[in-house]
Amino acid sequence: MKALEGVQILDMTHVQSGPTCTQLLAWFGADVIKVERPGVGDATRGQLRDLPDVDSLYFTMLNHNKRSVTLNTKSDKGKEIFVKLIETCDVLVENFAPGAMDRMGFSWERIHEINPRIIYASIKGFGPGPYEDCKVYENVAQCTGGSASTTGFLDGPPTVTGAQIGDSGTGLHLALGIVTALYHREHSGIGQRVTAAMQDGVLNLCRVKLRDQQRLQHGPLTEYSQYGQGIEFGDATPRAGNDSGGGQPGWILKCKGWETDPNAYVYFITQAAVWGNVCDIIGRPEWKEEPGYATPPERLDKISQIFDAIEEWTKTKTKLEVMEICNPLNIPCGPILSMRELAEEPSLRQTGTIVEVDHPERGKYLTVGNPVKLSNSVSQVTRSPLLGEHTDEILADVLGLSAEEIAAAKSAGAV
Ligand code: COA
Repeated sequence: MKALEGVQILDMTHVQSGPTCTQLLAWFGADVIKVERPGVGDATRGQLRDLPDVDSLYFTMLNHNKRSVTLNTKSDKGKEIFVKLIETCDVLVENFAPGAMDRMGFSWERIHEINPRIIYASIKGFGPGPYEDCKVYENVAQCTGGSASTTGFLDGPPTVTGAQIGDSGTGLHLALGIVTALYHREHSGIGQRVTAAMQDGVLNLCRVKLRDQQRLQHGPLTEYSQYGQGIEFGDATPRAGNDSGGGQPGWILKCKGWETDPNAYVYFITQAAVWGNVCDIIGRPEWKEEPGYATPPERLDKISQIFDAIEEWTKTKTKLEVMEICNPLNIPCGPILSMRELAEEPSLRQTGTIVEVDHPERGKYLTVGNPVKLSNSVSQVTRSPLLGEHTDEILADVLGLSAEEIAAAKSAGAV
């Protein structure tokens, strides 16, 4: 048995944030029934297409291990079937624009009345407050959740990050909320409302920057290289380039080949415990004892200068050579790996973090498998469903509708 086997999820999600959440639950063994508008489906099926008339990678990579049922939840017949699905399922997940479920006639109160055990989970851009009615996409959340104002270089504009912390990040938060509510239901017997706002999810991931905002009231942030450069701090946590900004200074340094390879770089951390090893490999053994360099507090005003010296050494090695030399010395560092390198990395294939999937219309493609590994609930990634692929099967097996009832629903345009 997989960890979530037997849990049925009524998946009303679309685009990225909600589908990330339900895909995770499906990987852990839940039966995820994705409800899509007849003839239309999740908009991402048709977005960023690389092959004509074939579900996009955007869609397939967010909807593995699910079943698809088409259902017009705005039609009378469709609503009837939807009520049956609510009666049957353990969890309903959606990430429509604010108010869409209410407009459809399915408020939390109504859903709870239909099935008091159901957990109703939603993602919205914002929580209650001035922006609660706004539609939100990834970068809006990054900008309003504190990520953009703290990402980028001091002399440049706010910057968004490639990691989808607003969409996928909030999907992860919601998945935790759902399994927590399922656990609570085990002893309470009732379901509850679970909500996760994208602004809140991003802010949660940026909490160290709110830490720094408060530290700033008591003096400059000495772990930021701006401190050593003599640049005054303003009234908000600044953008800090590649500074770690934490207790162990770090920076991205050029490696051999950087002139032509945009990813010939390494993240290098001068962890205090291995300072002696750092001094030895870069040929500055005198810094181990020299006043001004010997202890971490003495080095804080020289972060940029120290990394310039380390870079003179890293430029003589490839990023993987730096890793090979530093690892045995316990110096934490990370080569900047391109998507091409990650796609080809054998160890990620072996652990199932990168998986090849076969799709009847597009053929083989790569995807990211479940990044969370459970010893007794191993995830096998199965392809995403075609639009409405499981409609008949779900109406018959999950809801017990007869062939005549299914035919009637079809002729009414409900499925
Ligand atoms: N049958 C009938 N109607 C359906 C349906 C179905 N199976 N599934 C969806 N619909 C309807 C909805 O009821 C809604 O109708 P309404 O506007 O008349 O109420 C409509 O389809 C579309 O919903 P909406 O969510 O407004 O889509 P959108 O494409 O305009 O907006 C987002 C997309 C992502 C901006 C918006 O959904 C949103 O802000 N979501 C919350 C935040 C979020 O998750 N953002 C990240 C997405 S990656």
